[in-house]
Amino acid sequence: VLVPDPGYPAYRALARLAEAEVVSYALDAANGWRLDPAAFEAALEANPRVRVAVLNHPSNPTGGGASREALAAVARACEGRGILLVSDEVYRELHFGEPVPSLRDVSHGGVVIESASKGWAAPGLRVGWAVGEPRWLAPARTVHAFAVTAASEPCQRAVLALLEASPSVLEASRRELVCRWETLGKAFQKHLGTCPARPDGGFYHWMPLPAGAGEDPLAFCVRLRDEAGVVLVPGFTFGAAGRGHLRLSFGASPAQVGEGVRRMAPYWRTT
Ligand SMILES: Cc1ncc(COP(=O)(O)O)c(C=O)c1O
Repeated sequence: VLVPDPGYPAYRALARLAEAEVVSYALDAANGWRLDPAAFEAALEANPRVRVAVLNHPSNPTGGGASREALAAVARACEGRGILLVSDEVYRELHFGEPVPSLRDVSHGGVVIESASKGWAAPGLRVGWAVGEPRWLAPARTVHAFAVTAASEPCQRAVLALLEASPSVLEASRRELVCRWETLGKAFQKHLGTCPARPDGGFYHWMPLPAGAGEDPLAFCVRLRDEAGVVLVPGFTFGAAGRGHLRLSFGASPAQVGEGVRRMAPYWRTT
């Protein structure tokens, strides 16, 4: 299974549970952490036994997206090799005005994953969905049925209501996203004197570790948690390429986002 590095840790864990071998393709700061078809294809060339490849755009943890051209190139590369391409697009509705492309805009192949948890702001319902060719979905349905039987009916009905109300629900989510992003930007300016780069979508800011914290990023994050009451996720948990970074979520309330930055700022000045 080919997964992004840095990338959402569940891809590696789930592949290992299925006793698959995990290999990765690089995402790169120089490219804004966006999908790079050349790096993706190089990984396919280097690993001819890949049967499943995973995309995540906008990405958790980096917020990096994928262009239509990149998606089309990657889809072609997988189709030509008979590889199942899984495109995790759970953050796609959380954009900043410019909608971000879906694999579905450029290909009918593969499987697209979405969730009520992010754009529709209903993580407690535990409902997501996969859209793709029946030949890929039929075995997944069998595994799902034996693993969890089904999503509960009240949750399915609640998600249906959310989907029917999508225009207003998604607009409200994006309004909140922008408000929280602006709060983060102002707090960074005020307390850190820097201006964070806006993600392509989602509510994560992927930031370099402060100088001096690189030796032991976990110890730094634990200290920040215990002393300042702020939780940032060390980047290495998303793969080796995340070693020099931290993931900050600005999904909390604007007041909490502003307060969190105020509390963490001294560690950037002294560490
Ligand atoms: C990239 C990505 N995919 C999938 C999920 C799973 O979301 P859920 O299980 O809430 O639908 C998450 C949750 O954080 C995520 O970040």
